[in-house]
Amino acid sequence: MLLRINYTFVCYQNPIQYMNYKNLLIQLNEGVLLVTINRPDKLNALNKETISELSEILGEAELNDDVRVIILTGSGEKAFVAGADISEFAHFKVEEGKRLSAEGHRILFNKLESLKKPVIAAINGYALGGGLELAMSAHMRVASDNARLGLPEVSLGVIPGYGGTQRLAQLIGRGRAFELIMTAGMIDGQTAKEYGLINHIVPAGQLLEKCNEIAQKILRNSPTAIAAAIRAVNANYQNDANGLQIEINEFGNCFGTADFIEGTTAFIEKRKPKFLGK
Ligand code: COA
Repeated sequence: MLLRINYTFVCYQNPIQYMNYKNLLIQLNEGVLLVTINRPDKLNALNKETISELSEILGEAELNDDVRVIILTGSGEKAFVAGADISEFAHFKVEEGKRLSAEGHRILFNKLESLKKPVIAAINGYALGGGLELAMSAHMRVASDNARLGLPEVSLGVIPGYGGTQRLAQLIGRGRAFELIMTAGMIDGQTAKEYGLINHIVPAGQLLEKCNEIAQKILRNSPTAIAAAIRAVNANYQNDANGLQIEINEFGNCFGTADFIEGTTAFIEKRKPKFLGK
């Protein structure tokens, strides 16, 4: 049984290849895809295979019209993800280290950040190293009150290599990011909330309910406009992009969508819109 709390997802038959994943549990319920990283005996550490499977499911989810919001969490009581799998890279040399980082950025962490569908990280325990980097690549983060977050890589003689040096500073500011990285410390959910690292903290038993509550609000809105908003907001963090110019283009392009016609018509007709995501 996947879920340890009172929250039921129904598994639908659709084109997503649910059965192909060795390290993920996948459930879709009315537009909300729950992806659970499932290596609880290793605290859901991200080995190469899990990274590749996450990349694959995100690609599938992006193409599947049945998926509107994605919730990403970890299996078991203890961890969201306790980091990249240390046993896989402990023997690496310089070039292998560079490849590991670059490949991770490309196939998972950057892909997640720029996915056109919203991703909510449900942090149900330890989010360390690559685990926190994964959560930081998601569009928003909700943590349970037993969450412990940190980037402890310097305690292993290495630095965060899946975007952590950039995204942590973006989210909590440079001084706090330096302290967390240099001390290899962990912060609790309350501190993470105060820092702006997570959006909400909730009792452990209510984590998926809270994420689903946010998902339900998102589901009411236009998928095309949401995808445009993701591109525009993310542009602020791309060195080669002019965010305000991208906003102008994305704003203008919305006027050419069926969702815009539906949204404005529904407002004028005083009814709820039925967005098709086109
Ligand atoms: N990579 C590989 N395996 C990991 C792992 C990681 N990042 N984190 C945990 N595990 C494994 C442990 O090796 C152990 O496996 P084993 O039972 O086969 O020995 C299992 O998960 C349980 O972990 P354990 O350390 O026994 O649990 P704990 O409750 O005593 O400690 C942590 C929990 C999170 C404090 C501890 O596991 C830890 O420090 N993990 C590494 C965190 C880290 O440095 N992450 C960044 C990596 S770049």
